[in-house]
Amino acid sequence: MAEGVFKIAIIGAGGISNAHIGASKASNGRVQVVAVVDPVEESRNRVATDTGAAAFDSVLAMLAACKAGQLAVDGAVICTPPSIRLKIVEACLKAKLPILMEKPAAHVLGDAKKLASMAAKAKKVPAFVAYCHRFAVPVAAMKQMVGSGKIGRLVRFENAFACDLPGHETKWFSDPKKAGGGAFLDMGSHSLDLFHFIVGPAKVLGSAFDFKWKKRTETAGTVLLRGKKKGGPNVPAGVAGVILSGWAESSRFTLTLVGDQGSLFYDYEKPNEMIFKDLLGKAEVHEVPSHDTRFLHQLVAFADAVQNKAKTSLATFADGLAAAELNAKAAKMG
Ligand SMILES: NC(=O)c1ccc[n+]([C@@H]2O[C@H](COP(=O)([O-])OP(=O)(O)OC[C@H]3O[C@@H](n4cnc5c(N)ncnc54)[C@H](O)[C@@H]3O)[C@@H](O)[C@H]2O)c1
Repeated sequence: MAEGVFKIAIIGAGGISNAHIGASKASNGRVQVVAVVDPVEESRNRVATDTGAAAFDSVLAMLAACKAGQLAVDGAVICTPPSIRLKIVEACLKAKLPILMEKPAAHVLGDAKKLASMAAKAKKVPAFVAYCHRFAVPVAAMKQMVGSGKIGRLVRFENAFACDLPGHETKWFSDPKKAGGGAFLDMGSHSLDLFHFIVGPAKVLGSAFDFKWKKRTETAGTVLLRGKKKGGPNVPAGVAGVILSGWAESSRFTLTLVGDQGSLFYDYEKPNEMIFKDLLGKAEVHEVPSHDTRFLHQLVAFADAVQNKAKTSLATFADGLAAAELNAKAAKMG
């Protein structure tokens, strides 16, 4: 495939599609939205009007237009709810269309296993899960600083992704059948993937879930992890992980990496500051680029992975399954 503009189809024109569309607009022409698929006419028309993309009511209709030579698409960005993915992914892989699929991989572990197995069989078709926090520049900088020895030996990973989303009580997000899990599956899957990215594979030691809404999924998850093996320089086996996820509490989006010589702290609500503290509490404030370009970097990485076979930090479907296994384990214990 020639390098140049990378043409994507957005599949699912809901809330998160806006982040990918914004990223394509910010990509200086590197990525262009050329197709949009959504069964809801108003939703697909909104994106079509905004981007000039061709609109389709189903993935099969979009793939048929590609086959007929009426449309050229280089990659699909799948933004449907997780319970509506198996057939879409199957059809894209069959058409050899590379995939960037929103997190979490699936609403239930069985589907995550099926997706990982489909991707493994179609190994020539690039397929990734959009764990976007890997592409937050400050997060990547913290990972690098751990590797360079800035905080000594990594001891603990602490990550809170929590906020107040009262509207979720009546959306598919908290419907046990459609969503499979709640705040911990939604926000905690990001944290599980970040642990995997920075520390390596993990096991769940314990979890406590809270259910604020009757007959709905969990609204809070507090989960304890331990790294299974050495993850690189200064990341020994046995690093502890503490994950705090919530949909019904005051907002906190923070990552702290604690070492035996100091710690690194990033607060997404103070996006340009990352703080190193030594053991005596002396702080260095590092100016960093904001996390808010993460969707842009992720989308450009998708283009580079497909067009240039570039090695990127994108999460694979196997990584998506790893997070799904930990999600399921924590849900059982919670
Ligand atoms: N990375 C992040 O930070 C982040 C943030 C929000 C949401 N998400 C994830 O993105 C996914 C979607 O979330 P959302 O908030 O956009 O949900 P949403 O409900 O706003 O949008 C989902 C869209 O998918 C469409 N859809 C349903 N069935 C379809 C089908 N068969 N083909 C095509 N489109 C179909 C719906 O009509 C809707 O427009 C979820 O997995 C969610 O966890 C990720």
